[in-house]
Amino acid sequence: MMEGAKRVQGISTSMIRKMFEMAQKMKGREVISLGLGEPDFDTPKSLCDEAYKAMLEGFTHYTSNFGIPELREKLAEKYTRENGFEVTPENVMVTVGACEALMITALSLFEEGSKIIIPSPSFVGYYGYASLTGCRVVDLITTDEDEFEVNPDTLNEVASKDISFMLVNSPNNPTGAVISEDKVKAIAEIAEDNDIWIISDEVYEKIVYDRPHTSFGKYYDKVITIGAFSKTFAMTGWRVGYVIAREDLIEKMLRVHQYNGVCAPAFAQKAIANVLDTDMAFVGEMVSEFRRRRDLVVKRLNEMNGISCVKPHGAFYVFPRVSGTGMDGEEFAMKLFDDKGVVVVPGGAFGPENEGFIRISYATSYERLERAMNLMEEFVNENKR
Ligand SMILES: Cc1ncc(COP(=O)(O)O)c(C=O)c1O
Repeated sequence: MMEGAKRVQGISTSMIRKMFEMAQKMKGREVISLGLGEPDFDTPKSLCDEAYKAMLEGFTHYTSNFGIPELREKLAEKYTRENGFEVTPENVMVTVGACEALMITALSLFEEGSKIIIPSPSFVGYYGYASLTGCRVVDLITTDEDEFEVNPDTLNEVASKDISFMLVNSPNNPTGAVISEDKVKAIAEIAEDNDIWIISDEVYEKIVYDRPHTSFGKYYDKVITIGAFSKTFAMTGWRVGYVIAREDLIEKMLRVHQYNGVCAPAFAQKAIANVLDTDMAFVGEMVSEFRRRRDLVVKRLNEMNGISCVKPHGAFYVFPRVSGTGMDGEEFAMKLFDDKGVVVVPGGAFGPENEGFIRISYATSYERLERAMNLMEEFVNENKR
């Protein structure tokens, strides 16, 4: 078997994918997947109509590598107006989803051997970007005691002048944590004191319940902001994201992007530009349904023996501690799937010191979630240790 290049040998196929594939194979048996990270809503019809219209208008070819001017302008206005820091169209580059934005950031800025702080738990992709570029990961453990927010005191202990970058993700995958404005400010100050660049992944910015989202760019200028429409408009398959950064950095990223993503789909860019400042009531409706589901899941989990779950302020995940059942996250997830057909992801997939946890995505219907919670409760009672 061919081993592949050294740079991919340290990257494992995502545990989430593995669980998903396992679930797909279970034909003829009811499987409830609480494993995947995308809204279960359809993309709003208005966007689909705009995309069709754009295709007929000829938005079916390459666009500028930077993205179409209308979208860059709209994004610059949005950030300046809503997110509290000044952005010009020249600071924006449209990418093939947030993943490409993260990848080109890594490939164009991370030097082999540079140190990068990654909070744990984190989106699994971050470890992949660090590994591909030969970066050294400095773990920053976040805990359920702190509701999984990055704790500035803990950051102070690991931060130093020889660290080049820090990744942050609020609202967070896999915990749903939203970092409060005070803490965003404190974290930005520590980064500034140590001259650490912040890469702030804000793809869930619109999915917040009882705490507002704060951009790191509001308090610090050495910030690369990553965004996307994937989650906000339930359009993961359209592949449109973006990076916001200083112009000199955008120029470096362009060197990779021009040979990698090239451009996000033209009709998708145009459709988004056309709806971006219209009233997208869809988002509010989706978020209020997510809130209802979050409340259900958190309540039900905390009623189960041996499980404790923080009530998160954003995204559509919860990250309960299951170690009180006597099982670690991996055993819990595997056995739960075998016994009850419910798919969850072991916490260990999201970085060190998460073995006692699982991730549950509540991006599935309320009725199915109720059924999954009933099955999980039965499972916990049948496996008392
Ligand atoms: C934190 C985080 N960042 C980035 C992404 C990737 O988003 P996109 O589909 O826009 O590439 C995801 C997807 O799950 C995510 O959870």
